[in-house]
Amino acid sequence: MTDESISEDGGALLPDWEPPEIDRSKAHPARIYDYLLGGKDNFDVDREAAEVALGLMPELRGMARVNRAFLGRAVRHLAEAGITQFLDIGTGIPGPGNTGEIARQVHPDARVVYVDYDPIVSAHSRALLSGADPALTAIVQADVREPKTILDNGTVHAILDFDRPVAVLMVALLHFVSDAEDAHAIAATFVDALAPGSALVVSHASEGHEPGKFGAARSGWNNATSQLVLRDREEIERFFTGTELLEPGVVIIPGWRPDHDLTDEERSLDYGHAAVGIKR
Ligand SMILES: C[S@@+](CC[C@H](N)C(=O)[O-])C[C@H]1O[C@@H](n2cnc3c(N)ncnc32)[C@H](O)[C@@H]1O
Repeated sequence: MTDESISEDGGALLPDWEPPEIDRSKAHPARIYDYLLGGKDNFDVDREAAEVALGLMPELRGMARVNRAFLGRAVRHLAEAGITQFLDIGTGIPGPGNTGEIARQVHPDARVVYVDYDPIVSAHSRALLSGADPALTAIVQADVREPKTILDNGTVHAILDFDRPVAVLMVALLHFVSDAEDAHAIAATFVDALAPGSALVVSHASEGHEPGKFGAARSGWNNATSQLVLRDREEIERFFTGTELLEPGVVIIPGWRPDHDLTDEERSLDYGHAAVGIKR
């Protein structure tokens, strides 16, 4: 592998090396999302599935973009507020603007653990992040629906000190967890485990102004993706129980502390909500 292929700034994966776990034959949600973001870690099969979904919901590309931008603004805000530890659950493929990249612009020694349950994502992450300092970065394959496997994980504890503030990121994650799987109890388990001053960062899909659109788009890559549970603003706010919401509270994703005047297009991207809460 060349140095270029392992940079944490999202340098191209795969031109000369690829982990054996990566299956090029089936579209994969995290690689579809990477394609929507304009990333390089995707294959023809992913691009084709993404184009079908885009035909049904052209806003998907904008939603991916505003979601990733929210992640960046939230991480930057928390790092500037003094948080140096990040537990990023449901990482996806850590392309440009990943949590470590943003956090280390503020704290060069920020500690980041990336967690995803998907072996394909883990393989991409290992390839993209293998140049990172192992004392500051780790990749853990685990399922958020089993919070204890993350909170009791030795690798997580080798990097993160839970006696100090940790930002837990569940960005575009909890809509993959159903009410039957008790998504709210899962978020509460993480909040309970955190020291005061810690943060919870959530973005989550909602119906938006054209109900049914998200569901239709999902059917476009049905064989690749998992269930998608749309929740309204109030249901999303409940994930923050035990924290104090930072201003402006739970809002449409592009509306969380935007760094520019929102365009009309961004204002119309109301197919999801986001917020950041601080444990006091
Ligand atoms: C849409 S991507 C979000 C990526 C990134 N957080 C972002 O917002 O830019 C969702 C990720 O969540 C992961 N995921 C879905 N269900 C999960 C679960 N139960 N446990 C851990 N990760 C999960 C998927 O594998 C995928 O990589």
